[in-house]
Amino acid sequence: MQHNSNFRHWALAPDKVFLNHGSFGACPKAILKLQAELRRQMEAEPVQFLWRRYEERLEPSRHLVARFVGAKPKDLVFVTNATTGVNAVLRSVPLRSGDELLTTNHDYNACHNALLEAARHVGAKVVTAVVPFPLRHPDEVVKSILAAVSRRTRLALIDHVTSNTGLVFPIAQIVPELEARGVATLVDGAHAPGMVPLNLARLAPSYYTANLHKWVCAPKGAAFLWARADKQAGLQPPVVSHGNNTPRPGYTAFQNRFDWTGTFDPSAWFLAGEAIRWMEQLHPKGWRGIRKANHGLVVAARRLLCARLGLEPPCPESMLGSMATLPLPDRLQGRPKTGKIETEQLRLYDEFGIEVPLVRIGEPPRRYFRISCQLYNSLPDYQRLAEGLARI
Ligand SMILES: Cc1ncc(COP(=O)(O)O)c(C=O)c1O
Repeated sequence: MQHNSNFRHWALAPDKVFLNHGSFGACPKAILKLQAELRRQMEAEPVQFLWRRYEERLEPSRHLVARFVGAKPKDLVFVTNATTGVNAVLRSVPLRSGDELLTTNHDYNACHNALLEAARHVGAKVVTAVVPFPLRHPDEVVKSILAAVSRRTRLALIDHVTSNTGLVFPIAQIVPELEARGVATLVDGAHAPGMVPLNLARLAPSYYTANLHKWVCAPKGAAFLWARADKQAGLQPPVVSHGNNTPRPGYTAFQNRFDWTGTFDPSAWFLAGEAIRWMEQLHPKGWRGIRKANHGLVVAARRLLCARLGLEPPCPESMLGSMATLPLPDRLQGRPKTGKIETEQLRLYDEFGIEVPLVRIGEPPRRYFRISCQLYNSLPDYQRLAEGLARI
């Protein structure tokens, strides 16, 4: 299997074409090596590492992450993943019977379940704005979300980059419109850091949570939750620990509650900042260059796949970040789902060594596949996918 020169920096299997960075990310070898050393230190001196000198390693990482996403460190805490960030907010916001929680039909299933649970507890209602897919313009997203707001809407869960449909939502338009209507915005930015530029202080949603183990390439378990200063008071992690009555000089109550939620391996949090720094030096133009390269590749790859397989692109190129979702060819539509993983996804992996996710979207469901582009990918990877899809 031919790979580009960046591929050597990743621990990915060399006999596979990995086109699914989006699901769980992939961590470079250099960061994994640092993580192994941190774990060695943790096991050598557990109390020193996890307790006495915990903040010494946490704080520099928090500062680097905060700078990367345009935030003040005091407004940002680490969480293990975006699912945890979403759950923290939904379990903390005061809700009453009859309130409405707004989301879209492009939301992530796990986060949708968290919304349903929060609503069920108090007799609130989940309202789903239907954003069309395929779509022609980002305004269709804004229009559909705003049309679903009522005077009972308390909170809106808005994806920054959608999972199945791979769209960059125009959140710079959506957030201020919702906040101006008195709706607290919870942005699910699971895919955003590293894929699109972020300035949370300027965007100013009520809450923003995101993964660092996806497009920043930090070790698994690195994510953050940011909360606007006026929203931090009642915000609790899903798992309550010492923070509620254990203040630390120099830390906010918000940080005290989230910085420790029970014994765990914090090495991914400690290395999130280093992952930002390490990735940055991989491209001569730093993160701006990485984002541009990945976006350029996804545009080229999508054009190649559309031309080779006769597909209609379901959204404008301007709505893509580093992922793109395309319909499967007509001859593969209409086949029923057989199990947890689609048969064709298994065949692409087993017969062609290609890792790519297949999804069903809409009602009635139409079948799609989603490509991801990270620095270790290049155009021949997508040529191979086109060949594979043409042959299965
Ligand atoms: C939009 C979105 N939200 C949330 C998540 C959940 O991420 P995690 O499993 O790391 O919590 C994902 C994962 O793919 C996602 O795509």
